[in-house]
Amino acid sequence: MAHGLLKGKKGIISGALNDQSIAWKVAELAHAEGASFVLTNAPVAMRMGEINKLAETTGSAVIPADATNDADLEKLFAEAQAKLGGPVDFVLHSIGMSPNVRKGRAYSDLNYEWYKQTLDVSAISLHRMLQAAHKGNALAEGASVVALSYIAAQRVFPDYGDMADAKALLESITRSWGYRLGREKRVRVNTVSQSPTWTTAGSGVKGFDGFFGFAQAMSPLGNAPAEDCANYCITLFSDLTRFVTMQNLFHDGGFSTTGVTPEVMANFMKEQ
Ligand SMILES: NC(=O)c1ccc[n+]([C@@H]2O[C@H](COP(=O)([O-])OP(=O)(O)OC[C@H]3O[C@@H](n4cnc5c(N)ncnc54)[C@H](O)[C@@H]3O)[C@@H](O)[C@H]2O)c1
Repeated sequence: MAHGLLKGKKGIISGALNDQSIAWKVAELAHAEGASFVLTNAPVAMRMGEINKLAETTGSAVIPADATNDADLEKLFAEAQAKLGGPVDFVLHSIGMSPNVRKGRAYSDLNYEWYKQTLDVSAISLHRMLQAAHKGNALAEGASVVALSYIAAQRVFPDYGDMADAKALLESITRSWGYRLGREKRVRVNTVSQSPTWTTAGSGVKGFDGFFGFAQAMSPLGNAPAEDCANYCITLFSDLTRFVTMQNLFHDGGFSTTGVTPEVMANFMKEQ
């Protein structure tokens, strides 16, 4: 049921690759809640053409931009403003990729060129986006920026590899920009730390089914589905959360503050 929470708001949504993507669900919900927005993704990701279906159902334009390319990002914010008729009220950063994780390189044997790519694509891209938006005066007063993170920024999940470092950097960039943009324009910047979710990026992590199952058994509410992550993002884009900023907000069914559960203990008990 829609509530008109984003009525009249304009935005930019990155990272919708296919209908499993968290960004895809955010776009569908933002549309239902009355927002108008442009979709963006890396030019290579557009080749599959899936994003055009989403553009059609949500009545949005698609502007290709590699999130590691400053010229692309400047163009993205300029064109988005031209298409939407002014500065944007919300931005979703839903971008992550590690060549080391993809190619199975252990943390103790990283390829450093790939490591730099991991950090650039998955974290510095948020800085680049906000710098381009700031220089182009593209954020409206009171706008809201959300980036997606994972608890490996705080705790070790061995197979998450160098993505853990990228998420820690992403969360720090969120605070650093949040401080500056908050003072300047009351703009909020937060990360949502989501449960393991079956998407292209998620399932690329070695042993993802193990991650998923462990988190499910450890979370009193169970793993949070992508649709619910989208619901949470919508509240952060709405005027209901105007004083929430510089936070890493766990959207994880209670995983992050649970010590142990009977389901997990059962694996270690001699007598059942
Ligand atoms: N799936 C999970 O388990 C999970 C859990 C917590 C956080 N997250 C985060 O959620 C975000 C979205 O991932 P997802 O799970 O929806 O997977 P996804 O694979 O659907 O989305 C990742 C997106 O990043 C885009 N991308 C990669 N390189 C890019 C570049 N250079 N420029 C622009 N875009 C680029 C891809 O094209 C893709 O659309 C990521 O930041 C991911 O780390 C995912």
